[in-house]
Amino acid sequence: MLIWTTLGTLEVIEALRDWTVVPVPSDRWNHNTLYHPVVLGSIPDVCNRALDVGCGVGMLTRELRQVVPEVVGIDTDESSIAAARADLGASDVDYVQGNVLSYPFELGSFDLVAAVASLHHMDAEIALSRLSALLRSGGVLAVVGLARSSLGDLPIDVAAVLPDRIHRRCAPYWQHPSPIVWPPPESYTSMRGVATRVLRDARFRRRLSWRYTLVWTKPATAATVSRSSAPASGGRRAVRVGGGCTARARWAGPEAAGFRSPAWEQR
Ligand SMILES: C[S@@+](CC[C@H](N)C(=O)[O-])C[C@H]1O[C@@H](n2cnc3c(N)ncnc32)[C@H](O)[C@@H]1O
Repeated sequence: MLIWTTLGTLEVIEALRDWTVVPVPSDRWNHNTLYHPVVLGSIPDVCNRALDVGCGVGMLTRELRQVVPEVVGIDTDESSIAAARADLGASDVDYVQGNVLSYPFELGSFDLVAAVASLHHMDAEIALSRLSALLRSGGVLAVVGLARSSLGDLPIDVAAVLPDRIHRRCAPYWQHPSPIVWPPPESYTSMRGVATRVLRDARFRRRLSWRYTLVWTKPATAATVSRSSAPASGGRRAVRVGGGCTARARWAGPEAAGFRSPAWEQR
């Protein structure tokens, strides 16, 4: 009992740290966009190809494209994909209409897989296994998710109301037009359990504004240097610069680049 109370208190304190999270000035913000920086901050050092799962009208997809050379957005919903494709910033993004659980993506072909407000549309265990299989070794899965509150979540839910009111006064809340599922099938507690079971070492965090985040780095196998991170001599490698931009550098082979081991193996 004491352990549960202590853990619950710690979770509340951690969620309260989100009081400092404020919407990026934009004409569109909601409880999903509020946590886009968690996804953008999880982009691995070497990132050539990213997947946005349940991309909706492509808000995050376009943000990812600012820093990742190749970005794919997938959604089952035809009108969301049509709206995403119609957006001015979409020219360079590959949008596909399909089910991420069955779409014939090559396994291990993404450096980053992101899912914002879409995981609860699927069976959580099956979806997490599938998304992890799409990642290359050392790739990162970043989820912003919805879950059901239980009694123990009440303090966090109540604490979220005031910042939410303030945010709404600063800018109107944007209701995205894509399909929603409510209530989410998993509670925060059961979702944390699924994440821990399926993905060892996943960082699961209850967030203040009715969301959780989950960030997981796929373990690197000892000798793995993925196709996307270390192409054959003469290929290209993406390099993160400063605040998270990627620049493309000529890849002249491991020795020429002073390459010892991939960054993720050193974590
Ligand atoms: C609540 S919307 C979120 C959209 C967008 N990520 C956002 O934050 O605005 C969830 C989206 O996931 C999509 N979706 C649900 N299940 C999916 C699946 N199995 N494969 C691909 N997309 C899926 C839905 O069609 C919907 O557009």
